[in-house]
Amino acid sequence: MTTLNYDYFYDWVHLNLNIRLDAYKEKQLNRRIQTVMRQAGANTLEEYSSLIHGDEGVKKQFLDYITINVTEFFRNKDLFEKFEELLLNDLSKKFNEIKIWSAACSIGAEPYSLAMIINRHSLPLKRKIIATDIDETILAKAKTGIYKENELKNVSLLDRTTFFKEDNKRFVLDEKIKGMVEFKKHDLVLDSFEQNLHVIVCRNVTIYFKNEVKEDIYQRMSDSLVKGGLLFTGATETIYQPEQYGLKKVSSFIYEKVL
Ligand SMILES: C[S@@+](CC[C@H](N)C(=O)[O-])C[C@H]1O[C@@H](n2cnc3c(N)ncnc32)[C@H](O)[C@@H]1O
Repeated sequence: MTTLNYDYFYDWVHLNLNIRLDAYKEKQLNRRIQTVMRQAGANTLEEYSSLIHGDEGVKKQFLDYITINVTEFFRNKDLFEKFEELLLNDLSKKFNEIKIWSAACSIGAEPYSLAMIINRHSLPLKRKIIATDIDETILAKAKTGIYKENELKNVSLLDRTTFFKEDNKRFVLDEKIKGMVEFKKHDLVLDSFEQNLHVIVCRNVTIYFKNEVKEDIYQRMSDSLVKGGLLFTGATETIYQPEQYGLKKVSSFIYEKVL
């Protein structure tokens, strides 16, 4: 069996697709690369890179497969309940505007969940939700605001009827919620971060990065937050020494910028 030349492939992907594969945990990523390479019918990574180069379909399959897009509305419901509580009792008291960034937002379920929560309350707040992801295909889906029933499993009946219109087994999100979210392509490893943010929601993506990359991302996120702003992480992404980034734990998976 030939050994796969991952060094060559990582360099090729960086040069041709502008993605830094070396930022991700190697074992997990290489397993995925091998699987998707074989699915494309290639035996070596040199062969696979030629296929990616010459065929948009193969390129799309590669990008889809390495960016794991699993998500759902109100994922870990208790965290969204906590966001609602903090919005009402903390953020809206401290600030008269809130700029929220949903980083690595996948198909939009996360930023739209935040938008629905904000919309439930008539707060005297200027608000903006920016939602970003590295994967343009899923961003295109996010922008449509159209979902299948199984994607809505955590959405309450009340929210479903208030914020979605059913159309031939598809659920179409209300324009007022869609209009609250601005989607953009953004790479957490290579691109710079927006500044003066009040809330960053970055969930279920840092687990895929190497430790030093994750630490750099948390530091840059802390730098992007205004004092008193909040960082929400995923339910397996505890920050063990938040003070190293100028953050303080508020409750499980929620950190406040203190310095
Ligand atoms: C498992 S999903 C998480 C979605 C959502 N945040 C949630 O918790 O439900 C991970 C997302 O991270 C995105 N992603 C992976 N690498 C990225 C990078 N370098 N920069 C930005 N987004 C990235 C993927 O495209 C994918 O949509």
